[in-house]
Amino acid sequence: MDKLEKLRNDLDLCDEILINTLRMRSQMIQEFISCKQELGIAAVQSEEEERKKRNFNKKLADYEYRDAIMGVYDSILYYSKRIQSHELFGFNIFLIGFMGVGKSTVAKALKQVFAMDVIEMDQIIAEQNSMSISEIFDLRGEQYFRDEETNLLKSCRGKHDQIISCGGGVAMRQVNVDEMRKSGKIVLLTADPATILDRVQDSHDRPLLENNKTVEHITDLMEKRNPAYMAAADIIVNTDGKDVYRICEEIISKVKACKDAESAGQAQE
Ligand code: S3P
Repeated sequence: MDKLEKLRNDLDLCDEILINTLRMRSQMIQEFISCKQELGIAAVQSEEEERKKRNFNKKLADYEYRDAIMGVYDSILYYSKRIQSHELFGFNIFLIGFMGVGKSTVAKALKQVFAMDVIEMDQIIAEQNSMSISEIFDLRGEQYFRDEETNLLKSCRGKHDQIISCGGGVAMRQVNVDEMRKSGKIVLLTADPATILDRVQDSHDRPLLENNKTVEHITDLMEKRNPAYMAAADIIVNTDGKDVYRICEEIISKVKACKDAESAGQAQE
Protein backbone atom coordinates (compact mmCIF):
# COMPACT_ATOMS: atom_id res chain seq x y z
CA MET A 1 0.00 0.00 0.00
CA ASP A 2 2.84 2.32 0.92
CA LYS A 3 4.43 1.57 -2.40
CA LEU A 4 1.25 2.47 -4.26
CA GLU A 5 0.91 5.69 -2.32
CA LYS A 6 4.51 6.61 -3.14
CA LEU A 7 3.99 5.90 -6.82
CA ARG A 8 0.87 8.09 -6.79
CA ASN A 9 2.83 10.93 -5.22
CA ASP A 10 5.65 10.52 -7.72
CA LEU A 11 3.15 10.65 -10.57
CA ASP A 12 1.63 13.83 -9.16
CA LEU A 13 5.08 15.32 -9.00
CA CYS A 14 5.84 14.22 -12.53
CA ASP A 15 2.58 15.82 -13.78
CA GLU A 16 3.40 19.03 -12.00
CA ILE A 17 6.79 19.12 -13.68
CA LEU A 18 5.10 18.47 -17.04
CA ILE A 19 2.52 21.22 -16.55
CA ASN A 20 5.11 23.74 -15.38
CA THR A 21 7.39 22.82 -18.28
CA LEU A 22 4.55 23.23 -20.76
CA ARG A 23 3.69 26.58 -19.27
CA MET A 24 7.31 27.66 -19.55
CA ARG A 25 7.39 26.38 -23.13
CA SER A 26 4.27 28.36 -24.05
CA GLN A 27 5.83 31.54 -22.68
CA MET A 28 8.97 30.83 -24.71
CA ILE A 29 6.88 30.37 -27.86
CA GLN A 30 5.23 33.76 -27.24
CA GLU A 31 8.64 35.40 -26.85
CA PHE A 32 10.04 33.47 -29.81
CA ILE A 33 7.40 34.71 -32.24
CA SER A 34 7.63 38.33 -31.11
CA CYS A 35 11.45 38.16 -31.27
CA LYS A 36 11.21 36.83 -34.85
CA GLN A 37 8.93 39.71 -35.75
CA GLU A 38 11.22 42.32 -34.21
CA LEU A 39 14.17 40.90 -36.13
CA GLY A 40 12.15 40.62 -39.34
CA ILE A 41 12.77 36.86 -39.57
CA ALA A 42 10.21 34.73 -41.42
CA ALA A 43 7.47 33.49 -39.06
CA VAL A 44 6.87 30.51 -41.33
CA GLN A 45 9.64 27.92 -40.94
CA SER A 46 7.95 24.57 -41.47
CA GLU A 47 11.21 22.61 -41.87
CA GLU A 48 11.94 23.28 -38.14
CA GLU A 49 9.06 21.03 -37.10
CA GLU A 50 10.35 18.13 -39.19
CA ARG A 51 13.86 18.56 -37.78
CA LYS A 52 12.59 18.39 -34.18
CA LYS A 53 10.45 15.34 -34.86
CA ARG A 54 13.31 13.47 -36.57
CA ASN A 55 15.51 14.23 -33.61
CA PHE A 56 13.06 12.89 -31.00
CA ASN A 57 12.14 9.87 -33.10
CA LYS A 58 15.81 8.97 -33.15
CA LYS A 59 16.19 9.53 -29.39
CA LEU A 60 13.23 7.27 -28.66
CA ALA A 61 14.14 4.72 -31.34
CA ASP A 62 14.16 1.66 -29.07
CA TYR A 63 11.50 2.76 -26.60
CA GLU A 64 8.33 0.67 -26.83
CA TYR A 65 6.02 3.66 -26.23
CA ARG A 66 7.73 5.88 -28.78
CA ASP A 67 4.57 6.31 -30.87
CA ALA A 68 2.53 7.31 -27.83
CA ILE A 69 5.09 9.91 -26.79
CA MET A 70 5.39 11.26 -30.33
CA GLY A 71 1.59 11.57 -30.40
CA VAL A 72 1.73 13.74 -27.28
CA TYR A 73 4.54 15.75 -28.85
CA ASP A 74 2.39 16.30 -31.96
CA SER A 75 -0.25 17.85 -29.71
CA ILE A 76 2.35 20.09 -28.10
CA LEU A 77 3.46 21.29 -31.54
CA TYR A 78 -0.16 21.81 -32.58
CA TYR A 79 -0.85 24.08 -29.59
CA SER A 80 2.46 25.86 -30.15
CA LYS A 81 1.24 26.78 -33.61
CA ARG A 82 -2.02 28.06 -32.20
CA ILE A 83 -0.20 30.17 -29.64
CA GLN A 84 1.87 31.65 -32.46
CA SER A 85 -1.14 32.49 -34.59
CA HIS A 86 -2.82 34.08 -31.58
CA GLU A 87 0.26 36.23 -31.00
CA LEU A 88 0.49 37.17 -34.68
CA PHE A 89 -3.20 37.84 -35.23
CA GLY A 90 -5.52 37.58 -32.22
CA PHE A 91 -8.52 38.22 -34.46
CA ASN A 92 -10.11 36.68 -37.53
CA ILE A 93 -8.48 37.10 -40.94
CA PHE A 94 -10.93 37.50 -43.81
CA LEU A 95 -9.41 36.77 -47.20
CA ILE A 96 -11.31 38.60 -49.91
CA GLY A 97 -10.72 39.20 -53.61
CA PHE A 98 -11.66 38.07 -57.08
CA MET A 99 -12.16 34.41 -57.98
CA GLY A 100 -8.84 32.64 -58.45
CA VAL A 101 -6.64 35.11 -56.55
CA GLY A 102 -5.54 32.30 -54.22
CA LYS A 103 -7.75 32.75 -51.12
CA SER A 104 -8.22 29.00 -50.55
CA THR A 105 -4.55 28.22 -51.17
CA VAL A 106 -3.40 30.87 -48.70
CA ALA A 107 -5.98 29.69 -46.13
CA LYS A 108 -4.68 26.11 -46.43
CA ALA A 109 -1.07 27.23 -45.95
CA LEU A 110 -1.98 29.27 -42.84
CA LYS A 111 -3.82 26.24 -41.47
CA GLN A 112 -0.80 24.03 -42.04
CA VAL A 113 1.71 26.45 -40.54
CA PHE A 114 -0.29 27.93 -37.66
CA ALA A 115 -3.00 25.29 -37.07
CA MET A 116 -5.64 27.98 -37.58
CA ASP A 117 -9.27 27.01 -38.09
CA VAL A 118 -10.33 27.64 -41.69
CA ILE A 119 -13.82 28.61 -42.80
CA GLU A 120 -13.98 27.89 -46.53
CA MET A 121 -17.21 29.75 -47.25
CA ASP A 122 -18.14 28.18 -50.60
CA GLN A 123 -17.49 24.69 -49.29
CA ILE A 124 -19.56 25.22 -46.13
CA ILE A 125 -22.49 26.75 -48.04
CA ALA A 126 -22.38 23.88 -50.54
CA GLU A 127 -22.33 21.33 -47.70
CA GLN A 128 -25.13 23.04 -45.79
CA ASN A 129 -27.30 23.01 -48.91
CA SER A 130 -26.17 19.55 -50.06
CA MET A 131 -25.48 20.90 -53.55
CA SER A 132 -22.68 22.52 -55.52
CA ILE A 133 -22.36 26.32 -55.84
CA SER A 134 -23.47 26.07 -59.49
CA GLU A 135 -26.56 24.10 -58.46
CA ILE A 136 -27.39 26.67 -55.75
CA PHE A 137 -27.19 29.47 -58.35
CA ASP A 138 -29.32 27.47 -60.81
CA LEU A 139 -31.95 26.15 -58.43
CA ARG A 140 -32.18 28.77 -55.67
CA GLY A 141 -30.81 31.87 -57.36
CA GLU A 142 -27.90 34.23 -56.69
CA GLN A 143 -29.77 36.28 -54.02
CA TYR A 144 -30.29 33.14 -51.96
CA PHE A 145 -26.56 32.36 -52.22
CA ARG A 146 -25.63 35.92 -51.19
CA ASP A 147 -27.91 35.67 -48.13
CA GLU A 148 -26.26 32.38 -47.21
CA GLU A 149 -22.88 34.17 -47.35
CA THR A 150 -24.12 36.95 -45.05
CA ASN A 151 -25.55 34.44 -42.55
CA LEU A 152 -22.31 32.45 -42.51
CA LEU A 153 -20.26 35.61 -41.89
CA LYS A 154 -22.51 36.51 -38.97
CA SER A 155 -21.78 33.12 -37.41
CA CYS A 156 -18.04 34.00 -37.30
CA ARG A 157 -18.66 36.79 -34.76
CA GLY A 158 -17.50 35.91 -31.21
CA LYS A 159 -14.70 33.63 -32.51
CA HIS A 160 -11.11 34.58 -33.22
CA ASP A 161 -7.92 33.35 -34.93
CA GLN A 162 -9.90 31.85 -37.78
CA ILE A 163 -9.06 32.24 -41.45
CA ILE A 164 -12.20 32.92 -43.43
CA SER A 165 -11.71 32.28 -47.12
CA CYS A 166 -14.55 34.36 -48.61
CA GLY A 167 -16.27 33.88 -51.93
CA GLY A 168 -15.29 36.52 -54.48
CA GLY A 169 -18.59 38.39 -54.14
CA VAL A 170 -18.62 38.76 -50.35
CA ALA A 171 -17.13 42.27 -50.24
CA MET A 172 -19.84 43.57 -52.59
CA ARG A 173 -22.37 43.84 -49.75
CA GLN A 174 -21.69 46.59 -47.21
CA VAL A 175 -23.42 44.56 -44.51
CA ASN A 176 -20.80 41.83 -45.03
CA VAL A 177 -17.94 44.31 -44.80
CA ASP A 178 -19.39 45.71 -41.56
CA GLU A 179 -19.70 42.18 -40.22
CA MET A 180 -16.09 41.32 -41.09
CA ARG A 181 -14.79 44.51 -39.45
CA LYS A 182 -16.45 43.49 -36.18
CA SER A 183 -14.26 40.44 -35.69
CA GLY A 184 -11.07 40.86 -37.69
CA LYS A 185 -8.97 42.31 -40.44
CA ILE A 186 -9.84 42.15 -44.11
CA VAL A 187 -7.03 41.05 -46.41
CA LEU A 188 -7.51 41.68 -50.12
CA LEU A 189 -5.58 39.35 -52.42
CA THR A 190 -5.10 40.53 -56.00
CA ALA A 191 -3.82 39.05 -59.27
CA ASP A 192 -3.73 39.98 -62.95
CA PRO A 193 -6.67 38.83 -65.10
CA ALA A 194 -4.31 36.60 -67.10
CA THR A 195 -3.10 34.88 -63.91
CA ILE A 196 -6.71 34.41 -62.84
CA LEU A 197 -7.72 32.93 -66.16
CA ASP A 198 -4.88 30.47 -65.88
CA ARG A 199 -5.94 29.44 -62.35
CA VAL A 200 -9.67 29.06 -63.03
CA GLN A 201 -9.40 27.52 -66.49
CA ASP A 202 -10.03 23.92 -65.42
CA SER A 203 -12.60 24.48 -62.68
CA HIS A 204 -16.32 24.34 -63.34
CA ASP A 205 -17.89 25.56 -60.10
CA ARG A 206 -17.83 29.31 -60.71
CA PRO A 207 -21.15 30.17 -62.35
CA LEU A 208 -20.11 33.79 -62.98
CA LEU A 209 -17.21 32.68 -65.17
CA GLU A 210 -18.54 29.48 -66.69
CA ASN A 211 -18.95 29.81 -70.47
CA ASN A 212 -17.11 33.14 -70.37
CA LYS A 213 -13.58 32.35 -69.36
CA THR A 214 -11.73 35.14 -71.14
CA VAL A 215 -9.30 37.84 -70.00
CA GLU A 216 -11.80 40.47 -71.26
CA HIS A 217 -14.68 39.19 -69.15
CA ILE A 218 -12.47 38.78 -66.06
CA THR A 219 -11.02 42.31 -66.53
CA ASP A 220 -14.49 43.77 -66.95
CA LEU A 221 -15.95 42.12 -63.83
CA MET A 222 -12.81 42.88 -61.83
CA GLU A 223 -12.96 46.59 -62.72
CA LYS A 224 -16.58 46.75 -61.62
CA ARG A 225 -15.70 45.13 -58.31
CA ASN A 226 -12.38 46.82 -57.56
CA PRO A 227 -13.80 49.94 -55.82
CA ALA A 228 -15.68 47.74 -53.34
CA TYR A 229 -12.67 45.46 -52.79
CA MET A 230 -10.38 48.45 -52.18
CA ALA A 231 -12.84 50.17 -49.85
CA ALA A 232 -13.20 47.01 -47.75
CA ALA A 233 -9.51 46.12 -47.47
CA ASP A 234 -7.36 46.75 -44.40
CA ILE A 235 -4.43 45.10 -46.16
CA ILE A 236 -3.68 44.41 -49.84
CA VAL A 237 -1.33 41.69 -51.08
CA ASN A 238 -0.64 40.99 -54.73
CA THR A 239 -0.15 37.29 -55.46
CA ASP A 240 1.21 37.30 -59.04
CA GLY A 241 4.25 35.05 -59.39
CA LYS A 242 4.62 34.60 -55.63
CA ASP A 243 5.05 31.39 -53.68
CA VAL A 244 2.23 30.84 -51.12
CA TYR A 245 4.58 31.10 -48.11
CA ARG A 246 5.83 34.47 -49.34
CA ILE A 247 2.23 35.65 -49.55
CA CYS A 248 1.64 34.43 -45.95
CA GLU A 249 4.74 36.32 -44.77
CA GLU A 250 3.50 39.48 -46.48
CA ILE A 251 0.13 39.10 -44.79
CA ILE A 252 1.81 38.57 -41.40
CA SER A 253 4.06 41.62 -41.71
CA LYS A 254 1.26 43.85 -42.98
CA VAL A 255 -1.04 42.71 -40.15
CA LYS A 256 1.74 43.61 -37.71
CA ALA A 257 2.14 47.06 -39.30
CA CYS A 258 -1.63 47.51 -39.04
CA LYS A 259 -1.66 46.51 -35.35
CA ASP A 260 1.35 48.74 -34.58
CA ALA A 261 -0.32 51.72 -36.28
CA GLU A 262 -3.51 51.08 -34.31
CA SER A 263 -1.72 50.92 -30.96
CA ALA A 264 0.29 54.05 -31.83
CA GLY A 265 -3.03 55.77 -32.62
CA GLN A 266 -4.55 54.60 -29.35
CA ALA A 267 -1.52 55.80 -27.39
CA GLN A 268 -1.94 59.28 -28.88
CA GLU A 269 -5.61 59.52 -27.93
C1 S3P B 1 -18.18 34.22 -56.64
C2 S3P B 1 -17.01 33.61 -56.28
C3 S3P B 1 -16.93 32.18 -55.94
C4 S3P B 1 -18.28 31.67 -55.42
C5 S3P B 1 -19.38 32.03 -56.38
C6 S3P B 1 -19.50 33.52 -56.63
C7 S3P B 1 -18.15 35.65 -56.99
O1 S3P B 1 -15.94 31.97 -54.92
O2 S3P B 1 -18.57 32.23 -54.17
O3 S3P B 1 -19.12 31.36 -57.57
O4 S3P B 1 -19.22 36.30 -57.02
O5 S3P B 1 -17.04 36.19 -57.21
P1 S3P B 1 -14.33 32.04 -55.21
O6 S3P B 1 -13.93 33.47 -55.15
O7 S3P B 1 -13.75 31.29 -54.05
O8 S3P B 1 -14.08 31.41 -56.50
